[in-house]
Amino acid sequence: MTMVNIIDKKRLGNILTKEELEEAFLGYYNGEIPDYQMSSLLMAICLKGMTDEEILNLTDIFIRSGEILDLNGVHGITVDKHSTGGVGDKTTLVVASIVASLGIKVPKMSGRGLGHTGGTIDKLESIPGFRVDLTEEEFIQRLNEVGAAIISQTKNLAPLDKKVYALRDVTGTVESIPLIATSIMSKKIASGADKIVLDVKVGTGALLKTQKEALEISRIMKMIGAHYGKEVETMITYMDIPLGTSIGNALEILEVIKILCNEENNYLVALCKALSSKMVQLALGKNINQANDMVEDSLKNGKAYLKFLEIVKAQGGDLSGLRVSKNTQDIHSTKSGHVIDMDAYRFGKLSLDLGGGRKTKEDKIDPSVGIVLKKKIGDDVKIGDVLCTLYLKEGSAPIQEDLTDYYTFTMTKEEEKRIDVL
Ligand code: URA
Repeated sequence: MTMVNIIDKKRLGNILTKEELEEAFLGYYNGEIPDYQMSSLLMAICLKGMTDEEILNLTDIFIRSGEILDLNGVHGITVDKHSTGGVGDKTTLVVASIVASLGIKVPKMSGRGLGHTGGTIDKLESIPGFRVDLTEEEFIQRLNEVGAAIISQTKNLAPLDKKVYALRDVTGTVESIPLIATSIMSKKIASGADKIVLDVKVGTGALLKTQKEALEISRIMKMIGAHYGKEVETMITYMDIPLGTSIGNALEILEVIKILCNEENNYLVALCKALSSKMVQLALGKNINQANDMVEDSLKNGKAYLKFLEIVKAQGGDLSGLRVSKNTQDIHSTKSGHVIDMDAYRFGKLSLDLGGGRKTKEDKIDPSVGIVLKKKIGDDVKIGDVLCTLYLKEGSAPIQEDLTDYYTFTMTKEEEKRIDVL
């Protein structure tokens, strides 16, 4: 069948056979199918979906495009974690540090930014010298010596997903349940961990917008895990507002350090603790309360922070070289009120527009740009208050857009009282 016939078949909502999927995807991997035809097939998949059988077949093709990492050389239980993607999502760096500090091995293959969402690898690359391209031997050595290692997709592990992922990022084909599930699970199976915890994000800032979609992708990813004999746990978590207080690569590393030094106390911190506890529970067979206590202790006694420093050093990173832009712009509110909502999607897009993400495959990220949120849900705001600070590319002009619209306000208690009096 020609690629055009395969695209047509999916466009009409039909089921592709394993041979047809191989023809299209392996052909793309080998350079025989051009970007424009693969984009078209990906869009047809976004619009028409895939059956469970197609999803299993595509996952298998992705996995077999490379090798499956043999983690037999790693001493101890291995637990991996992956998020379906959000705005300001730096949980992996916190969670890997906590869990590894408790003696559990965390082999982590992460992705780059996708659409309006950021990626762990881009964040880590804002640390000068940090190597995300460890060889298999180095990866296993770091796991044994440090307890956690975080790498990007190597040439050897699910390399076809890497190529398709980069194309999806710039062709509006990110938000598809079958494509997200195959992308994540092929990487998770290829990177060889015994057990996997998946953070399924749902909300306006996530790739999955509704609870129904989140439940469906959880079912599919567990189904894929079971097919490969892996224990998979999913947690559906809230992503309507940006996670934590910063968005942008270097800025998020600074926030990770603050969390690990116990200087933050917000929903992101609670989420990191919950994910870590789930991983500890899965790895050590503890009940959730015991796992929670271990996680709290690791944060309080500073072991998680020290583990983060160890992970960075072991992968060649030099935190003293981390830079954020000096070209900042405070955004002042043009409204007053009590913040009840924030548009995570628009904040994610803004960070991308500032240079923190890619609009074409060739774009280079500026790790020093981003946004620090000064007002969040629950805060009262007066006209003129600083809502957020933008970190712009060095030398670029301030933005003109009124970002007050990214926030939803109701009246503050003070304003309500004044109206009562009138
Ligand atoms: N994370 C991935 O690795 N792949 C996706 O498609 C989405 C999130």
